[in-house]
This record gives sequence, structure tokens and C-alpha cells, in this order.
Amino acid sequence: MTTDLTGTYGPWGVVAGGSDGVGAAFAHAMAARGMNVVLVARRVPVLEAFADEVRSRHNVEVRTVALDLSTSTALSELVTATSDLDIGLFVYNAGGDDRSADFLDKDLDTHLSLVHRNCTNVLEAAYRFGGPMVERGRGAMVLLTSGAAWAGGAHLAAYGATKAFDLILAEGLWAEWSGSGVDVLGLVLSATDTPSMHRVLGPAGSTRPLADPADVANEALDHLGDGPTWIFGAENPTGGSPLGALSRRDAVVMMSGGKVSAPR
Ligand SMILES: NC(=O)c1ccc[n+]([C@@H]2O[C@H](COP(=O)([O-])OP(=O)(O)OC[C@H]3O[C@@H](n4cnc5c(N)ncnc54)[C@H](OP(=O)(O)O)[C@@H]3O)[C@@H](O)[C@H]2O)c1
Repeated sequence: MTTDLTGTYGPWGVVAGGSDGVGAAFAHAMAARGMNVVLVARRVPVLEAFADEVRSRHNVEVRTVALDLSTSTALSELVTATSDLDIGLFVYNAGGDDRSADFLDKDLDTHLSLVHRNCTNVLEAAYRFGGPMVERGRGAMVLLTSGAAWAGGAHLAAYGATKAFDLILAEGLWAEWSGSGVDVLGLVLSATDTPSMHRVLGPAGSTRPLADPADVANEALDHLGDGPTWIFGAENPTGGSPLGALSRRDAVVMMSGGKVSAPR
């Protein structure tokens, strides 16, 4: 059943990282259900062109906020830019890592920027936007996470760690805010057909089918109240980790895809 987004949560939604990929799909799906949207991203021409597309396809208001979610002022800037709006749904989408490499082959600033965008500012978004929702007694937050959160793995040590942070943060907030009228969903994705994923895959592309971002967004919006965790594409989307039957070591070896030289 299609969720009545505006009736349940409020008239406006924010998509942090909302100009392409999964974020763009969320924006379309929210707007198609009558929700006005605030779209956040860095590349202004892409953001503005996408905002025009949403306006022309759906009869809703669209506000753009160009900022970099890896900076320490991003969330306070976003609060200021949206202070006149009744925000009922916040989707923290931006989080992909489009260059998978060994930990020491990336510079430290790249890692710190990833942590700021994927952890510090996710927490700040939950605090600054979730707080007013709890006060009002209605709202929803979706934190995007990944199968990379299930266990550590070579080439994605920092990325996987940030996604585990998002997963656990979503689950904890879901528990704390249960009964408050605010739904929290940690949305776990596996390979999905987005520009960011195609940058990771390179020209060779994928050997396995990629999920459709529109399916991801619509399914998540239909299950905002079915948290704490929704595993898109899983046989049991509210079930546990698919690696749960393995020892931690075997899970890490599996995630590392042949990189571990001599597992004992
Ligand atoms: N795609 C997959 O296969 C996959 C698999 C598992 C999990 N996920 C998770 O799903 C989420 C969405 O992934 P995605 O593939 O759609 O790509 P993504 O790179 O996470 O998101 C792209 C969107 O976020 C914006 N963005 C990225 N960095 C930003 C920053 N520092 N500040 C502001 N905006 C920023 C981009 O616009 P600008 O570049 O213009 O800023 C664009 O609108 C992520 O959290 C990712 O971890 C994806």
C-alpha cells in the first residue's frame, strides 16, 4: 500500500545527496506522492537541472541547497536554508565511495572527508532535523547504508566502517524514538544502478544485475514504519545479516574477496 507521506509525516522532505542515483529516485518518489522536496548536492548545474525535472514532472515545490556534506558547517547551513519549512521526512542519502582502494593508498584527508559526510553529518542531521520531529510527534528519517556494513573487508575498510555507523545509529534511534511518532529506517542496499556505482565498476560494468533506484526508493517509502532495518532485495528484508551464520573471521575473508593471503 502506498504510504500517505504528507498526511503522515508533513509537507516537506529533504534528500541530502538528491541530484542523481538513489537520491534522485527518492526525490521523484516523494514528489510523486505529493511531497515538496529540498534537494542537497554540490554540483550546481546538475542539481538545478534535476530540480527542474522534478518540478516539471510533479506538481510540487522544489528547493535546492548547494553545499558539501563533508564540511563541518553543512548541517547548520541546511537548517538555516530550511528554517521556514515543516520538514516531515529526511533522507540522508549521500554516502557512496566511488574509488575502492587499499586504506593506505588513499590520502588521509579523503578518509576524513568520507567520515565527516557519512558519520558526523549523519549524526548532526539526525540531531538537528530529528529533534524537531520528535518534538512535533511526527516525522521519518531514512539513513542509507550498505551490505559493506555487515563485516570489514579489504579495499573498503573506511567505507564499510562508516556504513556500520549509519546502520547502528539508525537502529538505536529507531529504538529511542519508537512511540514518539517518528519512524527511523536504516536502508541497506547492495549493488544499485547509479552513476556512483558505475564509476566504481568502470567500463567493464557489472557481472550481476544491479538494483533499480526507483524500486529502492518506492519500497523504502512503503516501509518507513517497518524499521529499524530494511534490506532491499533480501528474501527477508527485516531479517538479520546474511553473513550471520559465519564466524567474524570468515565473514571478513568473504567480504575481502580473495585479498586475505593466508587465513588461519
Ligand atoms: N549504488 C550502490 O550500488 C550502493 C550500494 C550500497 C549502498 N549504497 C548507498 O546508497 C547511497 C546512495 O548511493 P548512490 O550510488 O546513489 O551515490 P552517492 O554518491 O552516495 O549519492 C549521489 C548523490 O549525492 C550527492 N553527494 C555526494 N557527495 C556529496 C557531498 N559531499 N555533499 C553533498 N552532496 C553529495 C551527489 O551530488 P554531487 O556529486 O553533485 O554532490 C548526488 O546527488 C549511499 O549512501 C551509498 O553508500 C549504494
